[in-house]
Amino acid sequence: MHHDVVPAAQHPERSGWAKKPSQGPARSVSEFDLRLLPLLVCPRDRFPLHYENSSLRCERGHRYAVVEGVPILLLADVPQTHVEGTRSLAVAEEGNASSLRHFDVVPGVIDPFVQNAIGAKNGSLYSHLIGKMTEYPIPELRLPPGEGKLFLEIGCSWGRWCIAAARNGYRPIGIDPSLKGIRAARRVAMQLGIDARYIVADGRHLPFRDEAFGQVFSYSVLQHIDDAAVAETLAEIHRVLLPQGRSLVQMPNIYRKLMDLEEKNGTYSPYGVSCVAAQHETSILWDKRY
Ligand SMILES: C[S@@+](CC[C@H](N)C(=O)[O-])C[C@H]1O[C@@H](n2cnc3c(N)ncnc32)[C@H](O)[C@@H]1O
Ligand SMILES: [Zn+2]
Repeated sequence: MHHDVVPAAQHPERSGWAKKPSQGPARSVSEFDLRLLPLLVCPRDRFPLHYENSSLRCERGHRYAVVEGVPILLLADVPQTHVEGTRSLAVAEEGNASSLRHFDVVPGVIDPFVQNAIGAKNGSLYSHLIGKMTEYPIPELRLPPGEGKLFLEIGCSWGRWCIAAARNGYRPIGIDPSLKGIRAARRVAMQLGIDARYIVADGRHLPFRDEAFGQVFSYSVLQHIDDAAVAETLAEIHRVLLPQGRSLVQMPNIYRKLMDLEEKNGTYSPYGVSCVAAQHETSILWDKRY
């Protein structure tokens, strides 16, 4: 019987993408990128993972499906923070994505997931743009050049910030519990020739080894989960960051206007809350929406 087992420690590309700057996009959207293995651990017990028969497995026997090349590294027995996490787990259970719509990557055409996702941004402000976008809205990443640093985005959806990070010299890995979002991220990266990796995972249980990342980033995610989930996610960010690593986490807050002013005055730091805001109880700063 043939077992396609690739332990992280022995894989020939162990020192490949995980250490060197961009080497070009993955060859196909349906392949699992073996160069991720050195970074991955079991999200349950943090033992290393081995790739075997289209799944990832730790030595304690926890098994995670890899569907169309996407590892689904969610904990099936904990309540999910987003309904799409539950849907991703159903696909993992089936072992294939036949229940999801298939979209082809068409050069020059905006991905349908992105065309629809724009309607979910900022209330209904952009609903008139649904289906009418002519280019991908890639934001400006307010971070110094990446110089090959590994960049983890928590809650990446279709990957706009990972694209911005790749263009700014980072090596991005995006995670999101939504397989639909992650599939879209892979299609868009492929279309734009962006070198990024995407995994279905949960910010509360990151499937990465300790001290793996120089930069962690998250935008508009923590305000959608409850306080306990935020605390778990922040602890995980701390665990996976290098000792000199940095994190940048965005969420709406009532001092936004104040920060705009500070930015104008040159006193605003993109690495954290403003000096004035930091003097206040954090719970009153966060304008959380569920
Ligand atoms: C408002 S969207 C933001 C998407 C992206 N950061 C952006 O700015 O375009 C929130 C995202 O958080 C993801 N999310 C929800 N719960 C999560 C969790 N526990 N861990 C990581 N991401 C989560 C959702 O699936 C969704 O894609
Ligand atoms: Zn395990």
